[in-house]
Amino acid sequence: MTHSFPRYLLAKQTVDDRALNKDVLAALQSNLPDEQLSVIEVGAGIGTMLARLLRWGILPLAVDYTLLDSDPENIAFAQTWLPQWARERGYQVHQPPASSPVEIRESVTESAFSIRLSASKSVTPSVNITIIQADLFDYIRSAPAPADLLIAHAFLDLLPLPDSLPGLLSLTKNLAWLTLNFDGVTTFEPVLDPELDSAIEAAYHRTMDTRPGGGDSRSGRHLFGFLEQAGVQIVSAGASDWVVYPVEGRYPADEAYFLQSILHFFEESLGHLPELAGWLEKRRAQLARGELVYIAHQIDFLARLKPG
Ligand SMILES: C[S@@+](CC[C@H](N)C(=O)[O-])C[C@H]1O[C@@H](n2cnc3c(N)ncnc32)[C@H](O)[C@@H]1O
Repeated sequence: MTHSFPRYLLAKQTVDDRALNKDVLAALQSNLPDEQLSVIEVGAGIGTMLARLLRWGILPLAVDYTLLDSDPENIAFAQTWLPQWARERGYQVHQPPASSPVEIRESVTESAFSIRLSASKSVTPSVNITIIQADLFDYIRSAPAPADLLIAHAFLDLLPLPDSLPGLLSLTKNLAWLTLNFDGVTTFEPVLDPELDSAIEAAYHRTMDTRPGGGDSRSGRHLFGFLEQAGVQIVSAGASDWVVYPVEGRYPADEAYFLQSILHFFEESLGHLPELAGWLEKRRAQLARGELVYIAHQIDFLARLKPG
């Protein structure tokens, strides 16, 4: 079966809804203005965080939301999925008919699309959405005007840290909500073979630390020091663990697909290990029987630029 990354991101929504740290979220909400807000979300995938913030009523009355991702498949998906999602929830959607890409700045050669969601009686806020397909570092080099809020969700642990932080933080003039930063613990239950389970989990973490583009399997704990060194204040921090489990033998929403995807990522990263095939077969059988439990430890942060 071919794996669909956009479907994985869709299936991840309910898992992330539970995981996001609600104290850090409350701190974010209490620091947002009531009227106008500009947001830049990097590594935004298909746009599910924007949908979540609208569902949860977190955003103020008028929002400019820029969503950036380097993957053309995710961007194409976002362009159709977000307007459809918004229409189904009562927003009026204004999208240029051809929705053709425009070059936004000389050094960002990729495309930008715009969609406007108008508030109606039943739904607020109004949102101007700009969807940009570009590599994060090209975008930073193009020196865009900073937004009020930077969001990086399930993304920072893929970047070279701490080297990426100064550029990343140049995208905000005030707040950064940095969520689901993986922090070195992966657990599957029930145990198959304690030694083999631990060896495979550790090998998976090592692949995160040795990715050519960067990455850190303990980014969560390291961010406390890295953010401090980058000159920002940590306003709030807390755990945002993924905890995926069956209820009476069934997984909620599309979370069985989420778990299939996690096992697929193990296969992609560790396919060379001779023990992996047998281990995966048993884990997939546990999933099919509705027995598999998966836990990944992660940490959320709300940070604020220090004045001056
Ligand atoms: C784990 S996914 C998370 C997506 C989204 N934040 C979510 O949670 O639904 C990481 C995303 O980062 C994007 N990405 C990876 N490296 C990137 C880069 N250098 N510049 C921009 N996007 C990048 C990928 O295409 C992918 O969509």
